[in-house]
Amino acid sequence: MTVVLGVDLGTSAVKVSAVNKAGKIVAQESFDYPLVPQLKPGYAEQNPEDWVIATTVSIVRLILNDGINASQIEGISFSGQMHGLVLLDENYKVLRPAILWNDTRTSDQVLEINRKLGAKFVEITGNKALEGFTLPKILWVKENEPEIFSRAKVFLLPKDYLRFRMTDKIFTDFSDAAGTVALDVRKKIWSKEIIDAFGLPQSIFPPLLESIAFAGNISSSYSEFSGLSKQIKVFAGAADNAAGAIGAGILKTNMVMSSIGTSGVVLKIEQDKNINYHGKIHFFNHGIPNRFYSMGVTLAAGYSLSWLKKTFGKTDNFDDFVKSASNSTVGAKGLLFAPYIVGERTPYADGDIRGSFVGIDGIHQRSDFVRAVLEGIVFSFKDIFVLYDQIGANFDTVVSIGGGAKSPLWMQIQADIFNKKVISLKNEQGPGIGAAIIAATGLGWFDSVEEAAKQFISFGKEYQPNPKNVVRYESLYKIYKQIYPATAKISHELIDYRRSL
Ligand code: XUL
Repeated sequence: MTVVLGVDLGTSAVKVSAVNKAGKIVAQESFDYPLVPQLKPGYAEQNPEDWVIATTVSIVRLILNDGINASQIEGISFSGQMHGLVLLDENYKVLRPAILWNDTRTSDQVLEINRKLGAKFVEITGNKALEGFTLPKILWVKENEPEIFSRAKVFLLPKDYLRFRMTDKIFTDFSDAAGTVALDVRKKIWSKEIIDAFGLPQSIFPPLLESIAFAGNISSSYSEFSGLSKQIKVFAGAADNAAGAIGAGILKTNMVMSSIGTSGVVLKIEQDKNINYHGKIHFFNHGIPNRFYSMGVTLAAGYSLSWLKKTFGKTDNFDDFVKSASNSTVGAKGLLFAPYIVGERTPYADGDIRGSFVGIDGIHQRSDFVRAVLEGIVFSFKDIFVLYDQIGANFDTVVSIGGGAKSPLWMQIQADIFNKKVISLKNEQGPGIGAAIIAATGLGWFDSVEEAAKQFISFGKEYQPNPKNVVRYESLYKIYKQIYPATAKISHELIDYRRSL
């Protein structure tokens, strides 16, 4: 039996899945890594070496503990946390900790990009400049750490650095390149106009590959380090949202993905490269050649729930904590939560907004707070659905993955707030299965990503909206929508206060 390894390089852990030709996960290992302790509000950094060690430990465990024979592994590919900046010097050594997607220090650089390029920027990249994206991070280092920047030979995205350490080859793929917002998404080249506008050296931009393209064999040094064979073929891989969409079977335009991970994502596959969302939602190249996807992002989705649990239910079992929301009712007895606890992306693009509970009453119990958080996360997704509606994008099926799909209650809340059919996946495995599909297609096991996905994925239970709840959630959503404008000024003043400390 031969297998591929799908490496899901996330924000808090890496998960490596060994998948056979039938699409069955035969073994899986994961390993956590920390964030570098936060130096200032809005900072999020990680040590790239931790990704390499955690991935290697996971692979070695697959071999030593789970009975995978190294000679069974034919190919490897990746799903990577997006937008993170890894800067390498001329000896390909890491110059500083990676600045991650959820780091919001770059507000000044975002303003600078908008001032310099305005609408032209959106036309080229398909996106508005946002704090989380890579280009503002590059400009931040250039402006704030000029000595480090002057020594940068090339930059990579997180999964590209990991692949580099396995193969010694420097590449990125189009889906991750699009998330830098320095790529001309439609022409699929680094944008000279953007690079020149900010006086960046063209040479720091890595060569580009399709996600399913061969990126090299396992290098001699990594073979010695990990026990993997040098025959193994490594494929470029994709941004986690692209890989996640492949792994969730979002292959037709009548479907959207509703993903609740640390961040939350509503994502739609796009076939027409000329579609123009004017930067209201993100528009990126896909892991499927010549396809695109659009998406909106809630920065703190699952993170809001894990924050609540860590803060107010540390010793509880996670599933019981979530289930306790069923002791509350639709609308959490008049308690609303806006999940802006690390800033927000869609639709507000505001790194300095912060979250709120509104309507706290003496009658409220912990279960109401849990329910308000589950609902608030889905209301913030509803904001993205409303944008799609305004643009005229039609879809009738929502595929829920991540935390939202693990709880029947949360699935029903989604169906009721979205007023759409919501389905889960049988045996959901997250973006790692997308990475495995990419490797399987790269190896030629299948003719296309779509063919592989059909073999690897099947859909599970369906939830239909409950008409009575739909009406109640419609009124609540009208109230929820008022929270951002009503709290923005207060939030910004509080952030200024924290910065002054
Ligand atoms: C997408 C984004 C997050 C990260 C999480 O733009 O920033 O979903 O990809 O890894």
